[in-house]
Order: sequence, then C-alpha cells, then structure tokens
Amino acid sequence: MTVHLVGAGPGDPELLTVKAARLLATADVVVHDALVDKAVLALVPPHVELIDVGKRPGRPVPQEMITALLVELGHQHQNVVRLKGGDPYVFGRGGEEALGLVEAGVAFDVVPGVTSAIAAPALGGVPVTHRGLAAAVTVVTGHRRHGEEEDTDWEALARVDGTIVVLMGVAERASIAHRLIEAGRSPETPVAVVERAASAGQRVAIFGVAAQRSRKVIERPAGVASAQEQPSGLVLRHRIIRQISAENNQLRKRATVLAVP
Ligand SMILES: C[S@@+](CC[C@H](N)C(=O)[O-])C[C@H]1O[C@@H](n2cnc3c(N)ncnc32)[C@H](O)[C@@H]1O
Repeated sequence: MTVHLVGAGPGDPELLTVKAARLLATADVVVHDALVDKAVLALVPPHVELIDVGKRPGRPVPQEMITALLVELGHQHQNVVRLKGGDPYVFGRGGEEALGLVEAGVAFDVVPGVTSAIAAPALGGVPVTHRGLAAAVTVVTGHRRHGEEEDTDWEALARVDGTIVVLMGVAERASIAHRLIEAGRSPETPVAVVERAASAGQRVAIFGVAAQRSRKVIERPAGVASAQEQPSGLVLRHRIIRQISAENNQLRKRATVLAVP
C-alpha cells in the first residue's frame, strides 16, 4: 500500500535510476504525465494498467483530481507508481501530491529522477557550472498563468552570476529576454535552447539573448541541427566556452538556457 513518486528522467530510458526501473517492473498500476517518454513507458509490463493524466492544452486534468486518484489507488493496490518527467519535485507538483497522500494517510516515498534542468543543458553542450565561467545555476519557470502576478524576479536574476535555466520558457521568451537585458545582462549573452533532450528528436539552438526577442529567429533558429548532425556535445561545449571567453565583460560570461520538452 505505497504510492511511489518516481522521476522518469528526461526521456532516454537509460537515464532512469535502477530503483525507478525496478518499481516500473513490479508496479500494480502506473499513473503518468504527458511528459514521460514512450520509450520509458515501454518498460512497463503489458499486464500493468497505465493511466495517462497528462495535462495537455485544452484537456487539463485538475491537480486535485490527480491527487484524489492517487489516494484511491493507494488504498486499492500494493504498489502504485506515480511517474513524472525528470524529477518529481522540480516543477513537477510532486510536493503537492505528497502532501495530499500524507493528509489521506496513504504511505508514499519519492524516487528522485534526473531533472531536465540539468540534463538538457548537459546534453546540449552546456555544463551548468564551469570554473571561471559560471559559479552558480538557477532554475526558474518562464510560465505565467493568465492574469497572475509573475513569481520570478528577473531583475534580481539578471544580477546573479551564473547560468539561468528556464523551464517552460518558450512562450514568454521575448519578455524574459527583454527583462534580462533591461536589468543589465548583455544582449550577447549566449543562449542555448534545448528541445526534447535525451530523445530521438533532440535539437539544440545557440544564439545571443537578444535574438530571443525576434519571433522569426526563434521559429527558425540559426544553427539548429539535429542530434545526429551535432559533431558531439563536447565540441559544442568548447564552442560555447570559446564564445563566452572571447567576451571581455563579466556580465557576458553567463549563459541562459531555455529547455523545451
Ligand atoms: C512541468 S516542467 C517538469 C520538469 C520536470 N519535473 C524535470 O525535472 O525535468 C516541464 C518542462 O520541463 C522541461 N523539460 C522536460 N523534459 C525535457 C526534455 N527532455 N528536454 C527539454 N526540456 C524538457 C521543459 O521546459 C518543459 O516545459
């Protein structure tokens, strides 16, 4: 009678933890998000019930309904796996589900996963910290709910030394770029957009933060290449480092990474 909140990692099943793979193989039922890669779901034995509660645009499943479902399943089954993309507690609302389970008296545990916040930059050629270039990394959401105040203090972030990783940031990229530049980040700050990291469709684009303000550039980003066309993550990384080092300005040493599912 345990609900396991399990991180599925960024996509590639080989980036699952050993514990996650074991729990998937022995689960009675698996409740998963839209973000979980098909290749990971393929590891679930065919007789095990798979419930998709993915919150897609136009078909949202309210969080309260998901938590209620987990409580119900937790009372019925020995091993319930709640599978979430990346890490359950990194912008995954795993904490809310854990609280709901505690309040309902259902036993739970958490199995941390490889978060896309670190894995997507890494696979796109960006080490999120790098001695002499980035001494800190900040992970934020670029998503703004309609009519709500923004949680992220972009002005403060622009002043912090280090890499900024923006999850769910593509729709708001123009205003994010604008606010970072207004607050003092150089328009030349290198930006990597990493799309579908750790999956067959992985794509990486690199340009200056100012380009984020141009819809045209983002829709057809210069330098986009498929994973196969990239020479290798390492070469890419050296290219970024050269680009950053060439600039003789403290502000320009920081990279901004937007990660796209
Ligand atoms: C709701 S958040 C969940 C993050 C997740 N819990 C994690 O730790 O990776 C969803 C966002 O994570 C990012 N993301 C998730 N998987 C990704 C991947 N494979 N490649 C790039 N970005 C990804 C995207 O920004 C996406 O909009």
